[in-house]
Amino acid sequence: MGQLDDRVAVITGGASGIGRACAERFFEEGASVVLGDLNLGRAVEAAGAIEANGGTAHAVQIESTSPADNETLMRTALDKYGRLDIVVAAAGVSHSGYVSGEVIPREHLGLINQDPASWQRVIDVNLTGVMLTNQHAARLMIDAGNGGSIINIASVAAKVPLRGGADYCVSKAGVAMLTKVFALEMVEHDIRVNAIGPGFVATPMTAGARQTHEGMERMRAMTPMDRLGEPVEIANTALFLASDQSSYTTGQIMFPAGGMHVG
Ligand SMILES: NC(=O)c1ccc[n+]([C@@H]2O[C@H](COP(=O)([O-])OP(=O)(O)OC[C@H]3O[C@@H](n4cnc5c(N)ncnc54)[C@H](O)[C@@H]3O)[C@@H](O)[C@H]2O)c1
Repeated sequence: MGQLDDRVAVITGGASGIGRACAERFFEEGASVVLGDLNLGRAVEAAGAIEANGGTAHAVQIESTSPADNETLMRTALDKYGRLDIVVAAAGVSHSGYVSGEVIPREHLGLINQDPASWQRVIDVNLTGVMLTNQHAARLMIDAGNGGSIINIASVAAKVPLRGGADYCVSKAGVAMLTKVFALEMVEHDIRVNAIGPGFVATPMTAGARQTHEGMERMRAMTPMDRLGEPVEIANTALFLASDQSSYTTGQIMFPAGGMHVG
């Protein structure tokens, strides 16, 4: 018996890192998963790996800032598997030039030099994209009348200011508040909305920092547990929020961050 037997989960950013770990963990607990990602090749590969292990998974190419793509993604879950129970909004960027899987340094240092277009792209992907994913997921869940669980991947950066990362921090603080407001609005539909604020996690997003001694030291110095998190440690938090174990929990932000944000 799995914790998510017969459930259907949609995961944006499901091709890599935290999103992919959620897809794999949810599959292990019995869910069918739909992976939405900008990078179709990596999403197909991630879905194929789950299917090769006996699971049910499907990949869809999406641009998470597109309302139409979010609607199509949610409809795919209904069309292929007949229901939609869980949605994880994990698609995100660390800066406007970020391409997952490639090491691309930030083009500026500090808000004083920030180009408005690069600011807007981070807000679009990390905040507006999450809003659209929430909106389209909830519309289908409300129509189906079976409730649901929506999990937004924010960051410890929603609480902890990171020098040189104003766009990222502001986008994640926005996700935290969006989660709380939407949780209140969705209570009457039995849809729970929660967020996760990971600390530094060993995914492609931290690959650049992990490559240098200085980068590793900086991340460890900020983390009381003195190590980075593994993607599955974030996926286990998502599993709690996705499952009936968290049936009385909504509007919350959990911080699997090695003690980085305590409060
Ligand atoms: N890695 C960390 O240390 C860390 C810490 C806190 C929060 N987070 C958050 O976790 C989430 C996942 O990041 P990750 O570390 O797994 O990085 P990642 O690069 O491994 O995964 C991000 C995924 O999102 C996809 N994506 C990016 N922009 C997209 C778009 N516009 N539309 C659709 N898909 C898009 C990428 O293709 C990629 O597959 C992000 O929201 C990130 O901000 C990461």
